[in-house]
Amino acid sequence: MCGIVGYVGKHKAAPLILEGLKRLEYRGYDSAGIAVWQDGKFAVAKKTGRVANLEPEAAKLRLTGTYGMGHTRWATHGGVTDANAHPHVSSDGKIVLIHNGVIENYASMKKFLLGKGYTFKSETDTEVLCNLIAYHLAKEAEDPDESRFVSAVRKTLRHAEGTYGIVVMCSEMPGELVTARKGSPLILGIGDGESLVASDVAAIVSRTQSVVYLKDGEIAHLTPQRFAITTLTSGEVSPVIDKVTWSISDADLNGHAHFMEKEIFEQPAALENAMRGRFSEDGSTANFGGLNITAGEFRGFDRFQFCACGTALHACMVTEHLMERFARVPVECDYASEFRYRNMPLFRNTLFFVMSQSGETIDTLAAMREAKRKGYKVLAINNVVGSTIAREADGGIYQHVGHEVGVASTKAFTSQLLIGAMLSLYVARLRDMSFSEGVEIVQALKGSPELVRTALQQAEHIKGIAKRYAKYRDMLFLGRLSLYPIALEGALKLKEISYIHAEGYPAAEMKHGPIALVSEECPAVFFVSSGEMFNKVVSSMQEIKARKGKIIAVATADCKLPEGLADEVIPIPECHEAVLPIVATIPVQLLSYYVAVELGRDVDKPRNLAKSVTVE
Ligand code: G6P
Repeated sequence: MCGIVGYVGKHKAAPLILEGLKRLEYRGYDSAGIAVWQDGKFAVAKKTGRVANLEPEAAKLRLTGTYGMGHTRWATHGGVTDANAHPHVSSDGKIVLIHNGVIENYASMKKFLLGKGYTFKSETDTEVLCNLIAYHLAKEAEDPDESRFVSAVRKTLRHAEGTYGIVVMCSEMPGELVTARKGSPLILGIGDGESLVASDVAAIVSRTQSVVYLKDGEIAHLTPQRFAITTLTSGEVSPVIDKVTWSISDADLNGHAHFMEKEIFEQPAALENAMRGRFSEDGSTANFGGLNITAGEFRGFDRFQFCACGTALHACMVTEHLMERFARVPVECDYASEFRYRNMPLFRNTLFFVMSQSGETIDTLAAMREAKRKGYKVLAINNVVGSTIAREADGGIYQHVGHEVGVASTKAFTSQLLIGAMLSLYVARLRDMSFSEGVEIVQALKGSPELVRTALQQAEHIKGIAKRYAKYRDMLFLGRLSLYPIALEGALKLKEISYIHAEGYPAAEMKHGPIALVSEECPAVFFVSSGEMFNKVVSSMQEIKARKGKIIAVATADCKLPEGLADEVIPIPECHEAVLPIVATIPVQLLSYYVAVELGRDVDKPRNLAKSVTVE
């Protein structure tokens, strides 16, 4: 979703900002813009489409200034046009603003400003906020205690309802950036004689690894030499400077055609990283350092509630299955966006979990806050260290799989599955699971990287299948029990990057509707393992075959499928049920990737999608 980069220092701002914007492209956007202080005024270029479209426009301005900002926009208010792209400039030319989020009461602000003679060039809520800052600046008297610029932003934000991450420049104070957040992430970069601000550490990590994560309700005032943070309502805050642990090479392709491909093949290493140091010395359970809940307290919970969005919700659904199976604890999963408004009756001894790769998804964050408001403890399973969700949760488990760039989540998903399985083991061992069963699961989990490596060896075979199946416009993904969420994930992966319509269903439920789609034109991907559901899944396959539907079977090596039933078989290694969902995911990641490549899609930047959804 929208990306923000601001810079003030001694170097030319434009190349640094454009490079930062490119590092944020993975988040998803539809237009881009830049503003730099140049010869006593702001020079602005804005363009729909990629940052590459903006570059020639910016080049025409011959930008040499050392104070500027850039933005990638994912449209909310107003269509995708050059005029609606950010930065926006106030009608008196004094304030320049970039913004992530949605200002809900912009209409009343606009009416007020129109009455005061301010004019508007775009349909955006951002331009309204920009002019309101200009209005307050014009009224603000000199104050020895605070810059007029900061006061004007503070006063404006007191009237703003909704969410924002903003960066502001002012022609009366060139060389100063003011930035503030409520609901949208912002990170300050503290460099050598330069200060930066961005919505994502990826944009600034090439210049500094010293960062400050701005909190909701805080305003920062940056100059090249110093920064100060205050809250919207009161005085100065003592900031904590964190060190970013990943480097810029994590955000490079390293010889792969796409980040998605790179991240698919990184999964064995990612799984190793996610479980490193997290098994008990006796080898019978998992350990997590950051839960902030004792084993005794954990045992006291009667229920678990999981909330997440998108791919992360599928990981929660698999965790639900494993936890109920291993630990015999009732678990519920819900879309975070629904949970936050459902006002669901909750049992007293419920422990909450939110799962989020980015730790910034607004609905997941809101669900977590709602649960906390009701007095529940919330633990977060999250990949991005220092994210808002990680900071606000009572405790949690980091995924430790490094920076995930591809919009379609891959390594983050399988590591969430792994952590879900480890958590299920941990809870089960606090209850009735025996030592020997625990050891068996630990051994199975430790073997998961090797099993994934084996599954990845099918890449060329799957590429061939993808070439034959890329022509279809609809596809079904069908599985049962823990493989049902993997069917959902397979369908999601295919539709998000190839734009082929796909649906995931529990295989038996297919008879209650989706079977109407089945014909020679609608293939089905089945997940089959040799376990208790084998015969049932085979029956569902036969029902598809009888209606001339083509079948791709992702099947464990020990499955003896009836001759000729599947048109294509993708073998996966035989494995323990704790790791089966992880292993079964690999073929569908590869299938959707190769289908999208075959169709010439922009795999890492699929249309309309964002890596981290920071608006409601
Ligand atoms: C977006 C992404 C998905 C992701 C979902 C939840 O929709 O495109 O890939 O699964 O957000 O993201 P989170 O960061 O909370 O896991």
